[in-house]
Amino acid sequence: NLASSGRTSWRAPSNIALVKYWGKYPGQLPANPSLSFTLSSSATTTNVDFKKHKTAQKSPSFDLLFEGKPNKAFEPKIKLFLDRILPYVPWSKHYHLNISTSNSFPHSSGIASSASGMAALSLCIMEFENTMNPEMSEEMFFRKASFLSRLGSGSACRSIQGPLVSWGMHSQLSGSSDLYGSEFTGPVHDIFNDFRDTILLVHKGAKTVSSTAGHALMEGHPFATQRFAQANKNLSSLIEVLANGNMDLFIQLVEGEALTLHAMMMSSTPSYLLMKPNTVAIIEKIWEFRKKTGVALCFTLDAGANVHLLYPGESAEKVLQFIKNELVVYCEKGQYICDVIGPGAEKL
Ligand code: PMV
Repeated sequence: NLASSGRTSWRAPSNIALVKYWGKYPGQLPANPSLSFTLSSSATTTNVDFKKHKTAQKSPSFDLLFEGKPNKAFEPKIKLFLDRILPYVPWSKHYHLNISTSNSFPHSSGIASSASGMAALSLCIMEFENTMNPEMSEEMFFRKASFLSRLGSGSACRSIQGPLVSWGMHSQLSGSSDLYGSEFTGPVHDIFNDFRDTILLVHKGAKTVSSTAGHALMEGHPFATQRFAQANKNLSSLIEVLANGNMDLFIQLVEGEALTLHAMMMSSTPSYLLMKPNTVAIIEKIWEFRKKTGVALCFTLDAGANVHLLYPGESAEKVLQFIKNELVVYCEKGQYICDVIGPGAEKL
């Protein structure tokens, strides 16, 4: 019983990994488990109009509007995604999808939108499936949305729920799976209840290595085995730190993960250097500031030059002053984004 048409809208946030996913196996399966903070204001809003075709197609057809305009550059990624998820949403081949999507963060700001974008689109698709199959539990709904979004972009499966989401099997996370992200349900210290992420936009240009190519660099990487073991161990330590609020250890783990991610890229063949001189300058400033003030501020990095500053809300005033006085000069056009750790995607 397929509906003739329907319309769904979701807003999904970006996420920032504390323990990084870098390296994957065929089928978008992670080589190691990861855990991230879900963001709030850095998000993608997507609206999908579904219209039933007279006869089923090979795969769903679609039109895409990005920030109100057709966007050819994103079409192959969406096509690949819709083809990949078809076995799990076979009804979709009966439909034409009018997809309209926009990001809250500035276009080409160097903020990866694939996680929030794939999460928002997956939720719209699941919402439509849910109208035709309303028996689905909320747990199953989010699980399948996360499962689908993983097929678009691995880390997108961590952009459905919040504030802490793990992805990948880990002995200390019961119910954890390589197939979808799960909300972290272990004990969490009060200090993490109000946590901030200020993203310093160091370099807004396109990345020199796509994440697909980046993950592939871990195949046959001389340090791959050690790295995957380390990520598992770091996740065990992080689970303890989340419970006891030991900020010194939190900082050590989170900064170590970021630097290791970049070290993996520097030591792969071919090698990549994704930090810019300003990235390094910011890191040194943060270390100096922490030594001087004792404020629990740390950084993390994605596969790019921008720097995420993570800190508890209680230190926000001091950190923002520090950013304005000492870090803004290293940001392209002085731009940075103030975000907070949030609860996950929302239906509009
Ligand atoms: O989801 P992908 O394939 O774009 O990979 C993202 C990988 C990192 O952002 C570098 C780390 C992570 O776990 O988010």
